[in-house]
Amino acid sequence: MDFSRRTFIGTGLGAGLTTAALAGCATGANFAASEPKMPSWHLGYKTVPAGGFDPAPMQLVYGKAPAGLSGTLYRNGPGQMQYGDQYASHWFDGDGLVHRIAIGDGQAVHSARFVQTPKRVEEQAASKFLAPGFGTVGDPSYPVQSSDDVNSANTSVMMMDGELLALWEAGSAFRMDPVTLETKGPKSFRNDMKGMPFLAHPKREPDGRVWNLAVAGNRVGIYRIGTGGALEDFGMVDIGAAAYIHDWAMTERHLIIMVQPWVTDRQIPPFIDSYKWRPQDGLKLLIIDKNDLTKRRWSQAPARAFYHTGAAWEESDGTIKIDAALYKEPVLGKDGGGPEIRGEWTPQNDDLVSDLTMIVVPTSGDAHLIETGMICEFPQVDPRLHGLPRKLTAVLSGNSPLTPGLTSVSVHNWENGHTDTFNFGLDRMVEEFLFVPKPGSTKERDSWLVGPVLNLKAKATDICVFDAANVSDGPVCIWQADYSWPLGFHGTWA
Ligand SMILES: [Fe+2]
Repeated sequence: MDFSRRTFIGTGLGAGLTTAALAGCATGANFAASEPKMPSWHLGYKTVPAGGFDPAPMQLVYGKAPAGLSGTLYRNGPGQMQYGDQYASHWFDGDGLVHRIAIGDGQAVHSARFVQTPKRVEEQAASKFLAPGFGTVGDPSYPVQSSDDVNSANTSVMMMDGELLALWEAGSAFRMDPVTLETKGPKSFRNDMKGMPFLAHPKREPDGRVWNLAVAGNRVGIYRIGTGGALEDFGMVDIGAAAYIHDWAMTERHLIIMVQPWVTDRQIPPFIDSYKWRPQDGLKLLIIDKNDLTKRRWSQAPARAFYHTGAAWEESDGTIKIDAALYKEPVLGKDGGGPEIRGEWTPQNDDLVSDLTMIVVPTSGDAHLIETGMICEFPQVDPRLHGLPRKLTAVLSGNSPLTPGLTSVSVHNWENGHTDTFNFGLDRMVEEFLFVPKPGSTKERDSWLVGPVLNLKAKATDICVFDAANVSDGPVCIWQADYSWPLGFHGTWA
């Protein structure tokens, strides 16, 4: 995601952390110590050694680890941005590096491995980028038989039937061992569906059933997967245009495919070049009955671009509410992330910022938008309430004038309009924070928020834990690695 175009809203440091604690205390060699000519924030885009990271304990550098916090944070993101003097053209095209942060008994242990896709294996052998991609032309001699030949498996992760799946948006999920992070190969949900795309934003109902999309132009496949991981149903719908679809939404009764007016009529690498912004078409929402995919209706909202929704729910009268980070137009061009990868990013002052927005879809007629005016990305909700009425959305907020990253974690309460924020300051780059319900609890507020923060001062990555009910009080605890790792996209808690 290109966060370089946001305006700065963060000011000062949040309360609750001392300067010493924020400075951290990394020890040992930092693999990722910045090259002398690179700015400090380039640690967020620095290529990781081919073998990834062996398991290594992190140090508790602030606070006290919550006694009941036990589980594993898995995350995915691009880890190969450079071969020699050749840089990746687009942030979305770097090979997936899957992280495992095992937390328990007050300890945190980090490890990471690259997903061994065909693209990764070929490019590692050649020591250069070969495959075409989202923003990459690629080597014309590189053979492409299917989308999995260019699959970077770098966007998200999910657990399914005891396996960890590394997700991309235009090809198969890749199966990985959840402990060793060894790649086992592409996931096929049915023998006749090999290579079928599996979007990187699947939706899991509170009872465990998973829904997801397979986007192929204006035709979209819909997966329904049982709690045991078996495919229960797969159907196709026509969404009317080959729009860019990275995420979508789901309520207890409906699937909502949001067709933004950013569309393509051809598929030639680099793919991003072929997308055109057509605001006159508006943002169309296709609402599909989960029990009968042939029962569909359309609603329309003002033109907006988006990458991420939080989730959706239905009011008692059938009104659908979807929270999302909406942009007035797409912010990600063919050079998305390129300047950051090359260490050439400079602050920009244009107004292509996201806005945490509630999309309100009545049972008939057009949708309308409730805009908070709050810059945000990576919205997250309590997984116990996915698709159900709720109050809270956790987001990253606060642009920085000094780095191409975000500085803050916020929780917005849709019921009272209050936003609770902690600003880490300008020498941090904050990543997605996930809700982790406290054991034995039932309410959204009774959760922790867990996520990584790139600590530019310590040249190390921190894993921070907040109490979701008191974010502005600052982290409950921080573990710090002896090294940093590059910024990623999405994760899951298992
Ligand atoms: Fe995403």
